Amino acid sequence: MEKVKTTSTKQLQGSLQNGLHGELAVPGDKSISHRGIMFGAISEGTTVLHHFLTAEDCLSTLKAFQQLGVPITRDGETVTIQGVGLHGLKQAEQPLDMGNSGTTTRLIMGLLAGQDFPSELTGDASLSKRPMKRVSDPLAEMGANIEVTDGHLPAVINGEKLHGVDYHLKVASAQVKSALILAGLQADGVSILVEKQPTRNHTEKMLRAFGAEIETESDDVTITVHPQPHMHGITLNVPGDMSSAAFFMVAASLVPGSKITLRNVGMNDTRTGLYSILKRMGGKISLSNEQTMGEPTADLTVEAAELHPIEIGAAEIPAVIDELPLVALLAAKAKGVSKITGAGELRVKETDRISAIVTEFNKMGIDIQELDDGFVIDGRKPWRVVDSQLDSHGDHRIGMVMATAALLVNQPLTLTGADSINISYPEFFDDLATLISR
Ligand code: S3P
Repeated sequence: MEKVKTTSTKQLQGSLQNGLHGELAVPGDKSISHRGIMFGAISEGTTVLHHFLTAEDCLSTLKAFQQLGVPITRDGETVTIQGVGLHGLKQAEQPLDMGNSGTTTRLIMGLLAGQDFPSELTGDASLSKRPMKRVSDPLAEMGANIEVTDGHLPAVINGEKLHGVDYHLKVASAQVKSALILAGLQADGVSILVEKQPTRNHTEKMLRAFGAEIETESDDVTITVHPQPHMHGITLNVPGDMSSAAFFMVAASLVPGSKITLRNVGMNDTRTGLYSILKRMGGKISLSNEQTMGEPTADLTVEAAELHPIEIGAAEIPAVIDELPLVALLAAKAKGVSKITGAGELRVKETDRISAIVTEFNKMGIDIQELDDGFVIDGRKPWRVVDSQLDSHGDHRIGMVMATAALLVNQPLTLTGADSINISYPEFFDDLATLISR
């Protein structure tokens, strides 16, 4: 059943009497859903994705590949892709609209850089402010010809023959790494990519399942891409998105009396930073029903707990990059001073997430200090709402973090720009409601 879209301003009711209770299966993983469409498209034969994330970002990917001549059908959360092979894409008649999606944009740049036709990419206002030279520059070293506009979208990709490269990545970014891997598949020689730090490895794992030859050294940062593979379609069950489960992990940890179970959550260890951090802070969280079919999954049971403060530095950031605003929320209730550093990448997400969190937490009277690359938060000070009108800053994750924070105050608040949640989790408020018994 299609859910009704959230209106732009949402009333948030605080003060839960009994905490959060019950069970939930969160929607499919966003990173894996994007990749399922892309890799299915460039494989031969049929790919079927079950539990595909039907949120705006992944629908941008789906539509772009339809425009590139790939037959794709969707029935609810099941997507069927008739793959056209690595060299079977067709020139799109219209510019490809990336919407709000950085993942679609950066990965598709790597893929289209090696095709024998030109492509034009556009995006919404937020995406058009995000840095693209981090992708177009390294792709240029492989022979790509991409024209960006002052380092941003819109971009024109003039497809070229690519050559293999030996490249050390300058940013810890799975999106940049994945773009280079997709270019490497089409190159005329082997590519060796060395990451600054390990980042999410869905591209490597999934492409291997589709039949590509990609090796990762035991250092977890050196990746060898062999060119011109013949890839074949697969059937894939997309695990629940850890980044969506994260809101409820944090809500249940912080709202007294809570105990919930989140079913079938993706537990790829390049994504489980929040799980580890929550445990280290004294969170009560346990795993059951652990399975590994491609990606590892588990059911997570989370109970309310008293939390300790934490220090997090650069080495831990990639595995928790999308959940850092939630770590800030945990810190805002922990009994001491927490410090998050090395997280400058937050400034170039859907919005400047450091600035957005500081602005919104200040409205709640939370003791937070802004750093260039993170925050210092003292969770001992009681919160005191000084402005009841919260704002998502047009960013899905900021919107959902503030809706989670609102569960912890004794007065109703409003959230402006609440419809931004449709980017990754359209059912967020409905799912939250099923866990709340007032
Ligand atoms: C993603 C990688 C991350 C993450 C984004 C999704 C991906 O971005 O923040 O939400 O699917 O590859 P970076 O790799 O640029 O940090």
